[in-house]
Amino acid sequence: MSLTVQGLMFWSLLLVSLWDGAPATFDSSLNLHWQMWKKTHNKMYQNEVEDAHRRELWEKNLKFISMHNLEASMGIHTYELGMNQMGDLTQEEILKTYATLRPPTDVHRTPFTRKSGVAAPGAMDWRDLGCVTSVKNQGSCGSCWAFSAVGALEGQLAKTTGKLVDLSPQNLVDCSGKYGNHGCDGGFMTNAFQYVIENQGIESEASYPYIGLEQQCHYNPEESAANCSQYHFLPEKDEEALKEAIATIGPISVAIDASKPTFTFYSSGVYDDPTCSEVINHGVLAVGYGTQSTQDSWLVKNSWGTYFGDSGYIRMSRNKGNQCGIALYGCYPLI
Ligand SMILES: *[C@@H]1O[C@H](CO)[C@@H](O)[C@H](O)[C@H]1NC(C)=O
Repeated sequence: MSLTVQGLMFWSLLLVSLWDGAPATFDSSLNLHWQMWKKTHNKMYQNEVEDAHRRELWEKNLKFISMHNLEASMGIHTYELGMNQMGDLTQEEILKTYATLRPPTDVHRTPFTRKSGVAAPGAMDWRDLGCVTSVKNQGSCGSCWAFSAVGALEGQLAKTTGKLVDLSPQNLVDCSGKYGNHGCDGGFMTNAFQYVIENQGIESEASYPYIGLEQQCHYNPEESAANCSQYHFLPEKDEEALKEAIATIGPISVAIDASKPTFTFYSSGVYDDPTCSEVINHGVLAVGYGTQSTQDSWLVKNSWGTYFGDSGYIRMSRNKGNQCGIALYGCYPLI
């Protein structure tokens, strides 16, 4: 066998680590589970050096998850964590690909008029009303904003026509650059709504499928599956207005801080991390709200596939001082 560059790198790194007196040592009782996890999530690494690097991160994340759950079992947390496809990444890598929301600089907030005399119900879940499509996976493309935007449009479309149609985030990734979006490098939901307004349409997922890479725009007006006439921002930091908007309008696009490892590996319960900030970086869809025992929560649809959270969803703290900035940039389109 000839000595490849990778081979050289492997042996020199191995030497360096031996030199340090600290070669990567793994928990051998996890060997089988490491293989199983890689198979489950189709992980393929370049070489053994990368495999070792990823295993080290995975074991670290696994330990973090186990410790958190041990604490949860003692009543210290209101939510549990679980391993998912992001277990071999650093928090920086996760932020780079998954948290790429670019908040708009010019936000015009229209006063939100509450429906007088109609009290918002104590709990709401638009999934039960047939207004929420299946959970999607944005992959390694920073297109959370596009998934949040199509989610809000899908909700309005279903609510007004009774038809639940998967709309095309790829259409937005490829074609809304002129409106301040940057394809897989981030964007914002309202820029996407503005594109749909001016473009006079957005295609369906079926006619314009997701590939997770930015490509040449190929919008076809004949395939228009939905329109948008206008969009609005909700009042800033007003969780009561967000609740009423979800109750009366439909699923609402929201921006949150998703940068904490507790968010990455959330699996069940009500997410409550006091270190979560109001520096928003991720676009998601609020499809409901409620109260779990004594904890008020938002029901949030993410775009990280169904291995994330509770089959793709997360319940986030509500009425806890705008935790994770969830009521900063609530916005919605109208068909
Ligand atoms: C959206 O509006 C355009 C322009 O009026 C129209 O051609 C198109 O059919 C509309 N799409 C839908 C789904 O109604």
